[in-house]
Amino acid sequence: MQAKWAIITGATAGIGWATAEELAHAGYSLILIGRRADRLKELRDTLIRKVAHQTREQEFKSIAIDITKKSELDDFIQSEGPTINKVSVLVNNAGLAKGTDKFQDAKVSDWDQMLDTNVKGLIFLTRGVLPYMIKRKAGHIVNIGSVAGRWVYPGGAVYCASKFAVRALSEGMRMDLAGTGIRVTNIEPGMVNTEFSLVRFGDSEKASQVYSGMTPLGAKDIAETILWCLQRPQHVNIQELVIYPTDQAAIGQVVRRP
Ligand SMILES: NC(=O)c1ccc[n+]([C@@H]2O[C@H](COP(=O)([O-])OP(=O)(O)OC[C@H]3O[C@@H](n4cnc5c(N)ncnc54)[C@H](OP(=O)(O)O)[C@@H]3O)[C@@H](O)[C@H]2O)c1
Repeated sequence: MQAKWAIITGATAGIGWATAEELAHAGYSLILIGRRADRLKELRDTLIRKVAHQTREQEFKSIAIDITKKSELDDFIQSEGPTINKVSVLVNNAGLAKGTDKFQDAKVSDWDQMLDTNVKGLIFLTRGVLPYMIKRKAGHIVNIGSVAGRWVYPGGAVYCASKFAVRALSEGMRMDLAGTGIRVTNIEPGMVNTEFSLVRFGDSEKASQVYSGMTPLGAKDIAETILWCLQRPQHVNIQELVIYPTDQAAIGQVVRRP
């Protein structure tokens, strides 16, 4: 039997990397996307070493692109058409938060980067892939939103707005795709220990404090959940899933032990 194909954005770290491992173990062939070509190569080598020997049908393609650059996305859709035609899963995971300054003090360049990645990258890539899925009447779009797409916190206005957008987009896509057989899932995690806080603060000391004295989610927790959603029968669509660590009751309520 031919392996199913999935595209994972933001595969070079954290949730994306763990999802690549999880889906590879489940038998998927993968298109791995991120900006860091060296990390994509490392991931591809790891998957080939750990997984591909089990089945000769699986393939792993790594494609270094910046999803904020529409021309790079367009080139990808054009040049990889024959493979995208086989894709049944798109995991829109690439994303980031930058800074925690108050709205009135925040850097406009950080806003641009968050909106261009978390919102525009997601919609343009999805728009490029969907016609292939619609033609085959099969597909599953998994968007990685956030609890920040449901609840706002001080210093997070634009990041939260970008994730509120992911929730609205997931809902809107479901409505417009009704009847096509394509499923749309929005996964909304709380604190996950990845490179996320390092990217947000640009400082490893500050980043490590985010998780001090508490047990955050791991990337694998989210990856396993994504696979579980994919493995539900075709007539079942997990529309939304909020996942917090047990030590986090709400965005601003984290239990820390000395
Ligand atoms: N960690 C959390 O607490 C948490 C909670 C809720 C939701 N999330 C969401 O989960 C998703 C994954 O985050 P993570 O926690 O796994 O963070 P991460 O470890 O920092 O990974 C982010 C990934 O996104 C990729 N990326 C960023 N900008 C990109 C661009 N312009 N083009 C292509 N790829 C890009 C990065 O790859 P390159 O740098 O190589 O491009 C990296 O692979 C994000 O959407 C985030 O908002 C995270």
